[in-house]
Amino acid sequence: MDPFAKLWATQATNEHAERYSRAVSSYEALAHRLRNRFFYDTFKNLIKENKIEVMMNFGCGFSMYPFTLDPAVLFVEIDTEDVIHFKQQKTNSWQDKGVLPKRNVKFVSADFNSQSLDELYKRLLPLCEGKKTFILIEGVLFFLGRDDTTRLFHLFSRLQKKNDFVGSVSFQPSLEKQRVFSRLIDFVEVNLEKNQQFNYQTVADEFYTSAEGYRLTEHQDTISLAARYSPDITLAEEEILNEHMYLLQKC
Ligand SMILES: C[S@@+](CC[C@H](N)C(=O)[O-])C[C@H]1O[C@@H](n2cnc3c(N)ncnc32)[C@H](O)[C@@H]1O
Repeated sequence: MDPFAKLWATQATNEHAERYSRAVSSYEALAHRLRNRFFYDTFKNLIKENKIEVMMNFGCGFSMYPFTLDPAVLFVEIDTEDVIHFKQQKTNSWQDKGVLPKRNVKFVSADFNSQSLDELYKRLLPLCEGKKTFILIEGVLFFLGRDDTTRLFHLFSRLQKKNDFVGSVSFQPSLEKQRVFSRLIDFVEVNLEKNQQFNYQTVADEFYTSAEGYRLTEHQDTISLAARYSPDITLAEEEILNEHMYLLQKC
């Protein structure tokens, strides 16, 4: 579905993905594709309706949305310094060689664990002030604490205006009781760098239904998206790391 994702594949990343799939859940590749498809369709529709001018991807990792979406949009890729440095270098070089289509992409490094996000606010505001924005945060909240998450959503609210969107992905607390979740935690802990700290986070629906200044306009999960996009696949639900996708709109 994403023709450019394969650009990042190496023997090491393929082996890591296979080890992860064997150790945690064989449905992970499907779950990732489903959430990408959901957001891709959401972006496409909103862009067509002229509702997005700037898309900011917090914790973008190596996702490649900019290169399959409308070139009129400004894409702001935000992640840690090492990810941003590597991604910027590679994507610029692939655009120069014609491997990737040209897009207007800005790269911003940040640490979401910082006590203050004022610096990040000052860097992002000139890119999005007065524009219609979509903020995406997918695959990230699991790695952050509640204070960091609250600070980030406060930042989103400062950057956005009425009718702008936030798309967020998280696990619900009920998943913590499932064996597939324990396997995820074990896998992440074994793969931590030496001395690296890790506290996982799950997020209840109330966090989104009570987000100040926003209303929840859509809520999907891996299982509902599988029914929409892959109705022929039979799912062993207890084997799925069920992710929840929330679409919020600023009031
Ligand atoms: C599992 S990846 C998800 C990547 C992408 N959003 C996706 O869905 O494919 C999590 C990303 O969050 C970033 N991240 C995690 N903690 C962060 C932090 N404290 N500050 C900035 N980025 C962070 C990581 O560097 C990584 O790229």
